[in-house]
Amino acid sequence: MSFSQTLVDRLAAARHVAVLTGAGISAESGVPTFRDPDGLWARFRPQELANVEAFLRNPVLVQGWYAHRRRLAQEVAPNPGHRALARLEELVPAFTLVTQNVDDLHQRAGSRAVVELHGNLTRSYCIDCRRPAADAEAGPAHGREEGPVRCPACGGLIRPDVVWFGEPLPAEALERATEAAATCDVFLSIGTSAVVYPAAGLPLLAVEHGAYVAEVNVERSAIAAHVHEVVLGPAGTVLPALVEAVAARQGRGG
Ligand code: OAD
Repeated sequence: MSFSQTLVDRLAAARHVAVLTGAGISAESGVPTFRDPDGLWARFRPQELANVEAFLRNPVLVQGWYAHRRRLAQEVAPNPGHRALARLEELVPAFTLVTQNVDDLHQRAGSRAVVELHGNLTRSYCIDCRRPAADAEAGPAHGREEGPVRCPACGGLIRPDVVWFGEPLPAEALERATEAAATCDVFLSIGTSAVVYPAAGLPLLAVEHGAYVAEVNVERSAIAAHVHEVVLGPAGTVLPALVEAVAARQGRGG
């Protein structure tokens, strides 16, 4: 693990820092990633779980899978990588944290300006009347005998508030993320394989607009060749060291 003095200097002097995170930042909290050898897509098929046709075909299965992931996310805690990003937010004048994660760990670590590109597991809503569903209504166990969870108001199916394959990203979130990538001075792409667009296009957009772009990952991602710097190492180790170095550079260490 080593990051350049250029990265530290750029972050310490930046007016606006934008960050994109993916499943890798939550890996050290115990949340499985998607595409690693032990990731979710090695054990489950996206086409059977993460799209609206699958949900309509077998709502009990899909509701059960998300209830399982929701419980797992609730049981784990933010790690030093999440906390370092919450601290970085305090060190720079403007900060935008864009996440593809649906686990809520950034918010629980204290990050304030979080843009959720792929939704959030902790929220659910009725597909017919769009009424938000309370937590208790959202989460059946696997193999629920009484059928899928339905809206108490209209009887429609309750779905998680996450983006499925084939669905557009929430427009406002995408707009804020794009704006941040196009206007920031430094962009960090952390723990993402950078193969799912439009999220993966954000670091490239930042490069185009003149930001200094660095990747933090345990291995080189699909966009590694296009960024200014690749910091190889676990986010939970790299980010606390990086943010400490930035604070020290600003004379705020300790
Ligand atoms: P992936 O599972 O595709 O990639 C996880 C990345 O994290 C990989 O590049 C790993 O090398 C890296 N990684 C693993 N452990 C790490 C650690 N401790 N520190 C740093 N990096 C680590 O996950 P995403 O890129 O987030 O979309 O996947 C993007 C989207 O694909 C997800 O949001 C989800 C999925 O389908 C939807 O559900 C819409």
